[in-house]
Amino acid sequence: MSLQGKRIVVGLGGGIAAFKAVQLVRELMRRGAEVRVVMTEAAGRFVGPITFAGLTGKPAVTDLWAEDYAGEVHVELGEWADAIVIAPATMNLMARATSGQANDAVLATLACARGEVFFAPAMHHRMWSHPATQLNVRLLTERGAVVLGPVTGPLANGEVGEGRMLEPDDIADAVESRLAHTDDLKGTRVLITAGPTHEDLDPVRYLGNRSSGRMGYAIAAQALRRGAEVTLVTGPVQLPAPTGAEVVSVRSAQQMHEAVMSRFDRFDVAIMAAAVADYRPAQRATHKIKKGGGLKLELVRNPDILADLGAKRGSQPSVLVGFALETENLEQAARDKLEQKSADLIVANEASSGLGQDTNRATLVDASSASPLPEMSKRALADQILDRVRALLKHPSRKPRHEAERGAPN
Ligand code: C5P
Repeated sequence: MSLQGKRIVVGLGGGIAAFKAVQLVRELMRRGAEVRVVMTEAAGRFVGPITFAGLTGKPAVTDLWAEDYAGEVHVELGEWADAIVIAPATMNLMARATSGQANDAVLATLACARGEVFFAPAMHHRMWSHPATQLNVRLLTERGAVVLGPVTGPLANGEVGEGRMLEPDDIADAVESRLAHTDDLKGTRVLITAGPTHEDLDPVRYLGNRSSGRMGYAIAAQALRRGAEVTLVTGPVQLPAPTGAEVVSVRSAQQMHEAVMSRFDRFDVAIMAAAVADYRPAQRATHKIKKGGGLKLELVRNPDILADLGAKRGSQPSVLVGFALETENLEQAARDKLEQKSADLIVANEASSGLGQDTNRATLVDASSASPLPEMSKRALADQILDRVRALLKHPSRKPRHEAERGAPN
């Protein structure tokens, strides 16, 4: 009964997969959740509200204009729900949700969501791969919703393709695992770096890298969701600031170094996910560099933020996490970095995976173990990292610095 006490709204769009929402409602209830159903008018053409009323013991909400209802049902449901699960999420419903429409019961409830929001898309494969749908999925994800599936399989018209809704059990699993983490980092102060740094050559040019910042932003979003107090020191990225975080925007490695070093002793956890430039131009030209023959750039080393933090930390932060992007000998390189930078955990990536993408494949390396993880969304990986951080907060792997220096046993 792992959803015991959770309140979940299931919202239906109008698609054939609506029949599976009946099983989804049952499954969520079987796991202990209290469920209410909202549906669009089109959904009502596929499956009747009476079915849901019978299952949940409450009328399914189909109409914002019901005369026998005195209050604002969408506001009440949005506030009531720990999670809203849109299943099936049709192309149309996701497009309307993305553009902020609120002209039916499902969308108005979504607009008032206080808790987690999930979409389980179901549509023909060409609708799914349509650029508008793909853009909407990206936007919904960036705003914090979780898009579950779809999977490749038989579709309504008999074709096989990507667009089939996840099975009710799988949707329930995803909802359950996400709701399970709520508030387990309450009171923990987390400092996160994210994104690339830009090292200016002149007033219009810089040296940078392809980091999108998504990994660090996903960690910030998940840490916030789990109740942590988050400060995000971010290089230049094209991502919306996570709601609830203190955001410190910087441009260069030196600025990031300064932002982190002036704050680190106020934090329990520091997670250095930024792709900090190792070098910067020795000089920043005051005027735009004119083209001529060849151009030789002289570069100088940037400060290593993670290493400096590792060297200077006393009792804080209690947990220090770094990243390692490697092309070979991943685990050994991560282990070396753990040692050299006095970190507690290194998240090691193959250079071929992750950069600029929504998913990532990583190995988590700490003093006693190396755990290779399967490819997963950056959000899911963020949760795995935070699970390890939480374990390290409870059972630190690091000896207090003075003991380590004296070489004291244990
Ligand atoms: O040494 P390397 O750059 O491979 O280490 C990567 C890790 O160190 C990442 O966690 C990154 O955020 C951090 N780093 C840093 N400052 C630098 C370079 C890397 O904090 N100048």
